[in-house]
Formats: sequence, C-alpha cells, structure tokens
Amino acid sequence: MKATIDKLFRTGDASNEELKALMDLCDNEGLKEAAVARRKEHYGTAVYIRGLIEFSNHCRNNCFYCGIRAAQKDLRRYRLGKSEILSCCNEGYKLGLRTFVLQSGEDNEYSDEALCNIIYSIKSSHPDCAVALSIGEKSRASYQAYFNAGAERYLLRHETASPRHYARLHPTSMSIENRKRCLWDLKDIGYQVGSGFMVGSPFQTLDDLVSDLRFLQELQPDMIGIGPFIPAQGTPFAHMQAGSLARTLNLISMLRLMFPYSLIPSTTSLASISPQGRLLGLEAGANVLMPNLSPASVRTLYSLYDHKDAFSASGLEILKEEVSGIGYEVVACRGDVKSQKDEN
Ligand code: 5AD
Repeated sequence: MKATIDKLFRTGDASNEELKALMDLCDNEGLKEAAVARRKEHYGTAVYIRGLIEFSNHCRNNCFYCGIRAAQKDLRRYRLGKSEILSCCNEGYKLGLRTFVLQSGEDNEYSDEALCNIIYSIKSSHPDCAVALSIGEKSRASYQAYFNAGAERYLLRHETASPRHYARLHPTSMSIENRKRCLWDLKDIGYQVGSGFMVGSPFQTLDDLVSDLRFLQELQPDMIGIGPFIPAQGTPFAHMQAGSLARTLNLISMLRLMFPYSLIPSTTSLASISPQGRLLGLEAGANVLMPNLSPASVRTLYSLYDHKDAFSASGLEILKEEVSGIGYEVVACRGDVKSQKDEN
C-alpha cells in the first residue's frame, strides 16, 4: 500500500482500484502522515473557523436520509428573522469569527429579496467577513442575485455523483443533473464553491465513492465537506447502519492528497459518531472547523441526524485548547482558499 500512498502523494491521483484499496485501509498511519505533510506545506498548522447559522429547518424536499425532510412529523419548525441572524453574526464576530455560513433547509418563505437584504446587511456591518450560503438548489438568477448582494461562497454537497445511487437516496422530484447544474452555475458566477458527500450512506458502494472523487476532480471545488451517514429517527433510513469513522478518515486524507489546496472541514457528523472525531479529522488532513452560532433555543431543532454534536461558539475556547494540544492553531481570519499562485 505504501507504493499507492506515495503515488497519490507525488501525483495527486491513482487508479480506481488503488483508490478503493485506500478507502478500505485498516492501518492508516502512512496515509495520514502523507496527508498531514501535504496540508502543512500549504496551510501550516492553521485551522480556520466558520460560524454556522442554521436559520431555518423548514424544507420542501424529502431526501430519505435527512432528519429535517418535509415529511418529518413531530419536528417543531422554526425560522430566524433578519435581526436574529444579524445578532448571531455580531456574537460570532466578537468571538473572532470572520466567515458566516447561513444554512437552512430549502425554505421558499425567504424571498431572494429578503435573503439579499440579509446578506447585504451582514456585509455592511462586517466588511472584513465572508458570507457563505448553504441553502440548496436555486435558479441561476437567484444565485447571481445573492452573489451581487455580497455572498462569496456557497456550500452544496453533491451527496453522491452516481445517478443510480442518487435515485436511492432521493425522491424522483430531485436529480443529480440539477444538483450538478447548480454547482456549475455557482462556479461560473464566481463563487468559491464547496461540495462533498456522505460516507456510508445506504446502498453506497466503493465504486460510488470513486465516482464522487472523479466528479470532484472535474468540479475542482474550493471546499470539500464529507462526513459519515448517521441514521435519523423518523426517516426512511432510521434503521440503516451508520457510515464508518475509519473510512471517513481515510477519505479525508485522500482528499487532502488529491486536492492539496482545498478547505476541508472536520464535520459535525464526524464528531457525532466519535467523541474524538473532530480532532481525528484534523489529524487526517482537515483544516476547517464550523462552530454553531444558532441561538441555543433552536439548535436541537436543526436535527439532520440523531445525536448531532454541534459545538457552540461558547465552546470555542475549549476547542482552541484541544486543537493546540494536537499541534494546530485556530486562527481568526476569513480563511480564503489558497492556490498555487499564492505560493509563487
Ligand atoms: N447523516 C449524515 N449527514 C447528513 N446530512 C443530511 N442528513 C444526514 C444524515 N442523516 C448532510 C448532507 C447535507 C448536510 C447539510 O448534512 O450531506 O448536505
């Protein structure tokens, strides 16, 4: 396996069979070491932080895996208004956050005008901050409007690049074609784009994961978020098996080697399946953490999956210490993606 790791380190690519073998690796020391070396070349020991504001758990979609799907019964739904969102940002700013991620289900109650107004207000109060959106599939015109209002980044995981697998995770009203259309539109408009997928979602094969990596090679996103699938009660997949911690960590390391400059978060789902998950993600090659800035009163309602272990901004101090304990450093800056240009 050492030869394959060396190849991925040197060239940033490997054959499908080699990639599958790395995903299945039990002893990941060599892979991790290579990923950490590559990460240090480009990002040193810096860990970037983004404040996540989950501003609405209403959703029109019915993804089979998701705990806030439209058909979910017994879930109290909430929406934050502009002033609540702005105060989350103010709070986060004081704590050193310089990127705000506005995330929600696909909720049509917020008009484009209302969203643009919120984005514009955040940028006016905090011109030194980046605003990222994670609000799902929209028209190109809407994406353009948010961009013009000041949003610079957009997170939209493709979830799975395999059409067969996509159809097993989503109702027929949704398609991988539209998902990809959105991602290409976002790139074309000029956003820094984040995509990604779940590891171990039901019916996923190793070949599906290869397709995910190949799709990312085409898209060349600036950010790549992955995390294990975790069953969510009340969903069609409530009794399915969770994704594996080991495979997720292997894939984080592989992503670091295949996309050396990418911003890779150590995600909430990783922390939710293992108490050390968040730090293990950093040690596998991730370089971003996303503390939760949503008001405590609504935080448990953004229940994408069971036992979601979001860390709040108030826990940031503790996390900073843990992060420095493993040799990294949480930094207060926008944390823009680097590129080869920056280093020449
Ligand atoms: N397990 C893990 N991740 C999930 N997501 C949604 N539901 C689950 C689940 N049950 C992820 C999706 C989505 C992101 C916001 O959360 O990948 O893009």
